[in-house]
Amino acid sequence: MKHIAIFASGNGSNTEAIIGYFKGHPSVNVALVVTNNPEAGVIKIAHSNKIISAIVSKNALNDPEILGRLIAALNIDMIVLAGFLQLIPAYLLERFPQRIINIHPALLPKYGGKGMYGIKVHEAVLSQGDAETGITIHFVNENYDEGEVILQKATTIDKSDTPETIALKVQVLEHEWFPRTIEKLLL
Ligand code: GAR
Repeated sequence: MKHIAIFASGNGSNTEAIIGYFKGHPSVNVALVVTNNPEAGVIKIAHSNKIISAIVSKNALNDPEILGRLIAALNIDMIVLAGFLQLIPAYLLERFPQRIINIHPALLPKYGGKGMYGIKVHEAVLSQGDAETGITIHFVNENYDEGEVILQKATTIDKSDTPETIALKVQVLEHEWFPRTIEKLLL
């Protein structure tokens, strides 16, 4: 069995999609949900799916003796960032080479980097008049929204689109492609 940890800071729609996809899966198990935000929706989602959750301060995240120990104890094979707003510390990058992945709601390298999160990304895309946007799934390195691209999927932008309608289109792509990309990388 491969064990994954999901790191998330927000509502957790991707976390929910990933947990749902792997429910009853013969060889992949969501073993841990980590958040830096005590208000995050992901805590409830983890709880209702009987998955261990951990709320970590910046210090705990960066401390191999705290989060690092928990991850080792749960035999985690892969870390999945699903809307996680903190940088991943070096000890985890070293421990999980090509085993930490992130999803971003745009076609990187456009519209990425610190502060580029949620609706801000879609507002930026719309203000540039781009004909399309999409999702990027990529390996994580020490910078925000960088690292080798694993998969991109695009969707068109229509004249009538708003940041909110773009967010919905992008979310459909995220929920469709993130779980199966995780599965493909693990198996
Ligand atoms: C997702 O759209 C994800 O692509 C984005 O955060 C959202 C989390 O939504 N990530 C980034 O912007 C990373 N820079 P969710 O909490 O509903 O899964």
